[in-house]
Amino acid sequence: MRIELTDLTKTYKGNVHALRGLNLDIPTGMYGLLGSNGAGKTTLMRILVGLIKPTSGTVRIGGHDIASGEGKLAVQRTLGYLPQNLGVYPDLTARRFLDYIALLKGLDSRTERRRRINELLEVVALTEEADRKLKGFSGGMVQRVGIAQALLTDPRLLVVDEPTTGLDPEERIRFRNLLSQLAGDRTVLLSTHIVDDVAQTCRSLAVLAKGRLVFHGDVGALVSRAAHQVWTVTTSGPAPTWGRVVSALPEGTGVRYRVIAASPPDPTARPTDPGLEDGYLALMESDRLTHPV
Ligand SMILES: Nc1ncnc2c1ncn2[C@@H]1O[C@H](COP(=O)(O)OP(=O)(O)O)[C@@H](O)[C@H]1O
Ligand SMILES: [Mg+2]
Repeated sequence: MRIELTDLTKTYKGNVHALRGLNLDIPTGMYGLLGSNGAGKTTLMRILVGLIKPTSGTVRIGGHDIASGEGKLAVQRTLGYLPQNLGVYPDLTARRFLDYIALLKGLDSRTERRRRINELLEVVALTEEADRKLKGFSGGMVQRVGIAQALLTDPRLLVVDEPTTGLDPEERIRFRNLLSQLAGDRTVLLSTHIVDDVAQTCRSLAVLAKGRLVFHGDVGALVSRAAHQVWTVTTSGPAPTWGRVVSALPEGTGVRYRVIAASPPDPTARPTDPGLEDGYLALMESDRLTHPV
């Protein structure tokens, strides 16, 4: 399910430019949408799933223009969505909740619902907890119920908005691995502000900053944005003042600094291989210079 965005904009009341002319092709597989708070991730996702309309521009999903009634219907049949804040009914069990959502989605056959829900409970590893009330679930368990409800109709496109926020490290890893498995034969669009979520699951990604697309491509291409700009400085003297210090680790009697800078921040600085976080920070830094507001 390929997604094609052309000149897509969204301006909210009060002249808030949430999306400023996005042009982007999203291929099948797992795709990351990275950006800080307010970048426009949720706005884009709500447009894709048909909850809000863009101010201008077009969205084609699997060849269908979602602005047409026909296109919207075709896409909605094949789309699953986990919103940033999924409301669940705390007094329902996981199984009852899924059954309720399945009914809303038009799965009328009771035996078919039962079969599908059992299957999905296995997929998200909640079979044992299926008959417990949701109010006793951890954040990670609720998110897995959320993925199960998004998968009820076996969608070709799964849109997942900041699903790892607030999860503990083990649940985050488990949840990310689940998404990667699901991406085998479908498009999974994952939005996050956590660079590591993308680094561990996606081969390609887009970066949004204040409603603008500032990068799209391979993870490797983003990493290389910081090529020859990452340095290690170990000193017991003052911290480097040239460049951006991204970490400071006590070592012996001194501190080991990791610094992003266009030239060596100190005569003793050692060139260091960049990672995705470095690439992202270098990108944001250069974007700030070209678009100060
Ligand atoms: N319903 C709305 N009305 C007005 N402004 C909004 C609305 N929703 C989001 N915004 C604004 O649009 C911008 C993008 O928000 P959002 O898409 O939620 O970003 P993200 O999900 O990346 O944090 C922000 O400046 C936000 O305050
Ligand atoms: Mg958001």
